[in-house]
Amino acid sequence: MTLGDKQRLGVNIDHVATLRNARGVAWPDPLRAALLAEAAGADGITAHLREDRRHIRDADMEALRAALSIPLNFECAATDEMAAIVLRLKPHAVCLVPEKREERTTEGGLDVAGDANRLTRFIAPMCEAGCRVSMFIGHDPRQIEASARIGAAVVELHTGHYSDLHAEGRLAEAEAELDALRRGAALAQSLGLEVHAGHGLTYDNVAPIAAIAEVRELNIGHFLIGEAVFLGLGPAIEEMRRRMDRARGF
Ligand code: PXP
Repeated sequence: MTLGDKQRLGVNIDHVATLRNARGVAWPDPLRAALLAEAAGADGITAHLREDRRHIRDADMEALRAALSIPLNFECAATDEMAAIVLRLKPHAVCLVPEKREERTTEGGLDVAGDANRLTRFIAPMCEAGCRVSMFIGHDPRQIEASARIGAAVVELHTGHYSDLHAEGRLAEAEAELDALRRGAALAQSLGLEVHAGHGLTYDNVAPIAAIAEVRELNIGHFLIGEAVFLGLGPAIEEMRRRMDRARGF
């Protein structure tokens, strides 16, 4: 039995830029990685323009927007600076994430419930511009309900905690976290939200997340870019695609 349509794979290319910036030169080029990912079957490209520009830079976003024929998912914090860039580039999708300067990666989800009035005003012009606006949140029902209330089209459920528990071999806790993600996905879909998921996903932990029927898209970055060192980017993506498809019975 197959679970509806194939799940989409969004490839996050931030860490190609991390590698480039480590040397202050022009390579490896995130745009080249995005085009290779597209050729390898990625359904979309995600890039996170951080306030501190530690990996992706403004010029990368411009180049991705101009050159890609698959959807660009522009990940950013909900700041006025980012809103201005989003409204100029009008990417296919915008994923709003919490951002702290001192963090290594996006820790935890956005507090949509606690910032609902501001976020309603913040996303309105993006929705009007035709962007699919997504909230990167935990599976807490309050955050899911608030995302629906403020008019977001999509929620991306944070799988980082599940991934950490799985990596530490705390499998009973990982299973409980998976259950909470499943319940969150069902609630979100029942409220009319499209459901995505991502963070920390690898070949070893992707299958149970890929098998959640309501999850329409996974966004995966760090593991794939790391694996590309060994396999090449195209084969690394193709293997993830195979594992996602297998988990859904394709
Ligand atoms: N989704 C969101 C919203 C993220 O912030 C990230 C990390 O940039 C990812 C997915 C991908 O996570 P990872 O790089 O661990 O695969």
